[in-house]
This record gives sequence, structure tokens and C-alpha cells, in this order.
Amino acid sequence: MKKFNTGHALIFDSGVGGLSVVTEIAKLNTNLKLTYIADDNFRPYGEKTELQLKSRLPRLLWELTETFKPDLVVIACNTASTTALDEIRAVLSVPVIGVVPAIKPAANLSRTKTIAVIGTPGTVKRRYVDKLINEHASDCRVILQGSVNLVDIAEKKMMGEKINEDWVKTEITPMFGGPYGADIDAVVLACTHFPLLLEELKSSVSQSVNWVDSGDAVARRVNSVIKTLHLESRKFETNKAFLIGPNTCINRYKTFNSYGFEKVTGLLLD
Ligand code: DGL
Repeated sequence: MKKFNTGHALIFDSGVGGLSVVTEIAKLNTNLKLTYIADDNFRPYGEKTELQLKSRLPRLLWELTETFKPDLVVIACNTASTTALDEIRAVLSVPVIGVVPAIKPAANLSRTKTIAVIGTPGTVKRRYVDKLINEHASDCRVILQGSVNLVDIAEKKMMGEKINEDWVKTEITPMFGGPYGADIDAVVLACTHFPLLLEELKSSVSQSVNWVDSGDAVARRVNSVIKTLHLESRKFETNKAFLIGPNTCINRYKTFNSYGFEKVTGLLLD
């Protein structure tokens, strides 16, 4: 039985993807109170323009931070992080931790020096990703693959719907079936929804591949930032999730319950 919290983190994603980050945070820090926000109304982020995300996210995160008063914010979304992290940081007075696609660890792991980065169509186009490749994978051939369907498939899976493995296979076939695809030995899961499909991804590929995501690195960063805040222990409060939009359904509530969010509520914002 937990008796206290030593910090409160707001976890933000367009949908269920941030739960892959929550899993890693929960492994390292069980005293943190978590408030999860899913921006269901505006998903998929991966199909939105930079301008749309840059105008929505700072305003929304400011409003959420004013409402929930977290000690820190985790943008558990690669698309939002690679597009609008500076803009979000500029309006918040608490630390903001973003997700950085795990290009550096994948490049280090690769023996063939051929890696793939699979993210949303938005993420794989961002200058931020080019910069990471130049800085950390200049000795690698890097195959970029965008998929918005995998986001939808992960959402379906987390709603308890049956996933057809062929759907997953169709999304990743262009990268493994294309030029140098047979040499790929490390794949960066550059969308937080994708680790939720790890089993299906693994069984869709016959070659040996390291699947690399950033969840563990984000969790470690959360812990080190929390320590620098020197927070007092507080009365224990349960984790809560808020799903933005009217289209909530009982199975989705149950999924959040199973990740430790005892209370799940629909949140009506514009
Ligand atoms: N989970 C998000 C990410 O990491 C994006 C999903 C979406 O397209 O909304 O990129």
C-alpha cells in the first residue's frame, strides 16, 4: 500500500501511445503521481502540419498545466516533441521532457550500419530527425518510413479489438522489401504508439532486428529531473487519465485502468 507521492507528472499524447512511456516510468518510479492526457480530438498528429501543431500544443499544454498543476510535463509523443517542444517549453514554467527518437542507440547497436526509422509521416519529415541522423548516425544508411495506419492499429488493439497481423505487415513491408531492406538490423520506433505493437511487429519480420524505442530513456530523464526539484513527500493520490473529446468508450477506460489510472474521465475542450 503506497502512502505518499514524491512528485506529479503530466503525461501527454494524442492517444494511447504515451502508455508505452508510462510502462517505463512505472518500472523506475512508483511514487510519482501521474495525470495522463490523451488529445483524442486532434489525433492523428502525424497527419497535421507543423503550423497546426505549433498553434495548438503550447496553448493546450498551458491550459492543462494551469488546471492540473504538475511538477513536470512529459510530452510522450514523438510528433509533438519533434515539432513543437521549444514552443511548449516557452510557455510553461515547469520542466518539459520530450521524446527523442532513439536514433543514437539504434546506430550504436547496428552491425550492418543499416537502420530504419519508423514514425508518423510528420515525424520522419522533421528537420529535428535529420539533425539526429547527421549527429548520431552519419556512418549508417538510414531508411525512413512514415505510417499513420500503425497509430490507428495500436489504438484499436488498446480498445480490445482483434488485430490482423497482415495490417502491421503491410505497413512495414516497404522498408524491409525496399532497397537495402534485407540489411536492416535495427529499427527505431519513433512513435510512442508503436511499442504497443511490438509483438505484432516482431512476428511480421523474418530477419533478426533490434527494435529500439525511447521509453526507458524518458523514464530515466523523468527521475533525474524530479530529483533536481527537491519535492516534499505528499499525501498519496491515485493516477488519473483524461481523454479529450466526446467519443470515449468503456473499453478504452478499461485499458487506462489496466495501466494504473484508476479514474478515467472525458474532457471537453475545443
Ligand atoms: N504517439 C504519437 C507519436 O509518438 C503520435 C500519434 C499520432 O499521429 O497522433 O508520434
